[in-house]
Amino acid sequence: MNYRHAFHAGNFADCMKHAVLVWLLRALMRKPAPLFVLDTHAGVGRYDLNDGPAARTCEWQQGIGKLLDDPPPPLADYIGLVRTLGLYPGSPAIARALLRADDRMACCELHPDDVVTLRRYFARDRQVAVHHRDAWEALRALLPPQQRRGLVLLDPPFEDPQEFSQLASGLAAGHARFGNGVFAAWYPMKHRAPSRKFLSDLHDTGIRDIVAAELCLREPVDPARLNGCGMLLINPPYRFEQDVLPMLNALRDRLGNREAGEAATIRRISDE
Ligand SMILES: C[S@@+](CC[C@H](N)C(=O)[O-])C[C@H]1O[C@@H](n2cnc3c(N)ncnc32)[C@H](O)[C@@H]1O
Repeated sequence: MNYRHAFHAGNFADCMKHAVLVWLLRALMRKPAPLFVLDTHAGVGRYDLNDGPAARTCEWQQGIGKLLDDPPPPLADYIGLVRTLGLYPGSPAIARALLRADDRMACCELHPDDVVTLRRYFARDRQVAVHHRDAWEALRALLPPQQRRGLVLLDPPFEDPQEFSQLASGLAAGHARFGNGVFAAWYPMKHRAPSRKFLSDLHDTGIRDIVAAELCLREPVDPARLNGCGMLLINPPYRFEQDVLPMLNALRDRLGNREAGEAATIRRISDE
């Protein structure tokens, strides 16, 4: 396990993923019934952008660094939360900040050092369980939740090309156990073929109500660069497209450099 998220914290891909995550949780919280959140690839929880790995790569300067001052209105909720939380919040910190008293969260992290950091962050938090556990195994072990409603966030590191097929089968296995759950899976767009195959594999599972939200900062043709990223949603909450497309457009306008292929899209992969 070589991947350390600290090098990439707050980059454009994190902004896209976390802005969508905030919207999803708010949407699920329109109903009062308690929620379960499963963060299958949690990382360490929060990141100091001015020290250590994030300060060495400075990826955040092309991401959250361009949004904090004068955030575009569709991103105001996400940016407001980032400002409130201090250090740049990863997915577990964002989700935790939004949980209501009866909601619960489970976070899985496989890296032996990162899970220790995450455990320390949530020490004494009775609403959050931190597992040193493989994400793909956790989908089978922790679903369906007692609450019978909630969100599963899958955010693999994509260290090797096999992870697209692992993600597709993980989604299918999770959905088989928790059919009405909202599943959100992040994926990279370096070149076009792997993400296209991933979406076509998901379509072929027969799972209904799938959409893909994508943000490209340039044509995805260079396999050595993160040119864009996507979030695949199963059971997207009501108004996903109407509300999230303006967020993606705002990210494209603020974070893009007017390169060919810049795009923000939401596409339906399978019917409701
Ligand atoms: C992209 S990062 C997660 C970032 C986090 N979701 C966020 O938004 O702040 C992926 C994380 O998954 C962990 N990881 C890798 N393989 C895993 C597995 N099979 N099960 C659980 N965690 C894994 C890595 O150590 C890394 O911390």
